[in-house]
Amino acid sequence: MSRVYNFSAGPAVLPEEVLREAAEEMLDYKGSGMSVMEMSHRSKVYDGIIKEAEADLRELMGIPDNYKVLFLQGGASQQFAMIPMNLMKHKKAAYIVTGQWAKKAFQEAQNYGQAVKVASSEDETFSYIPDCSDLDIPEDADYVYICENNTIYGTKYKTLPNTKGHTLVADVSSCFLSEPVDVSKYGIIYGGVQKNIGPAGVVIVVIREDLITEDTLPGTPTMLKYKTHADADSLYNTPPAYGIYICGKVFQWLKKQGGLTAMKQHNEEKAKILYDFLDGSSMFRGTVRKEDRSLMNVPFVTGDKELDAKFVKEAEAAGFVNLKGHRTVGGMRASIYNAMPKEGVEQLVAFMKKFEEENQ
Ligand SMILES: Cc1ncc(COP(=O)(O)O)c(C=O)c1O
Repeated sequence: MSRVYNFSAGPAVLPEEVLREAAEEMLDYKGSGMSVMEMSHRSKVYDGIIKEAEADLRELMGIPDNYKVLFLQGGASQQFAMIPMNLMKHKKAAYIVTGQWAKKAFQEAQNYGQAVKVASSEDETFSYIPDCSDLDIPEDADYVYICENNTIYGTKYKTLPNTKGHTLVADVSSCFLSEPVDVSKYGIIYGGVQKNIGPAGVVIVVIREDLITEDTLPGTPTMLKYKTHADADSLYNTPPAYGIYICGKVFQWLKKQGGLTAMKQHNEEKAKILYDFLDGSSMFRGTVRKEDRSLMNVPFVTGDKELDAKFVKEAEAAGFVNLKGHRTVGGMRASIYNAMPKEGVEQLVAFMKKFEEENQ
């Protein structure tokens, strides 16, 4: 068996320890005589799994008691509709458009009310985070929406926007559990888990209780009401049971690593290795304004498309896979989520140095 260094933006690398444990438990989960994949989501054994997963997530993120944790399906993209359907009481919301995912959420919200674009960084290919300290947010906006880490463009908010008292809703799909977070600043903080936490098919929504109401837009399907899932502790229907089990294992792994403060330090060290190299390189350069750089997704280019393609091909042959940039941006992107070891980044940089020398 040989494992590669996987720099995929998602689905992405998971801790090897977690995968091994899951493999060991595959045929017989803790004496139950069956795989977690095969058991009833109403069983006592599964109840233990989902409750423990929630408790560990609450501990890791310091989630206050007045927030619910929901394990849902439909990916992060389904939230683009679910959020306005549940929150747009005045049929108005403010969107900050910092990349493709924020733009998709903004466009989707237009189906349900007035989505107002209050800031954007599209003028410079989303390579920065706009100043959000004094935005023109409509008084009657039901919420302010952000995508906190922009997976495709490699930017991250270093300070949250001044929402002027409005509820903040954030998509944290690609920075979930990568550093400590003050949940109380958000009304909803949510993300697909397939980048930093587990297998695709689960989306985690942490939502303040007062936002969970019967008062949704007319026609909102039962399955798309937060209340449906909150009232049933995420067991209204069959949840993505196996995926939640793996998320739970990753939460335990994160606790063993020292929690989110330790993760932040680890992620800063890893990202610094790559960014320092990019800043000193005569061939490669990062594409993002320095102060807005993400710790998770690092896009870079050589400035020559053919050389980019050669790099991606040779890197893959050397065991560094999924480095091709998003199709809308080109170049390269290294996603270095929690489970990417420091050694993976060090070796990537060594490979980049060698490539630079050989192709001057
Ligand atoms: C920030 C962000 N939001 C949303 C999505 C869409 O997620 P999903 O495929 O789970 O709908 C992605 C990526 O896939 C993403 O990176």
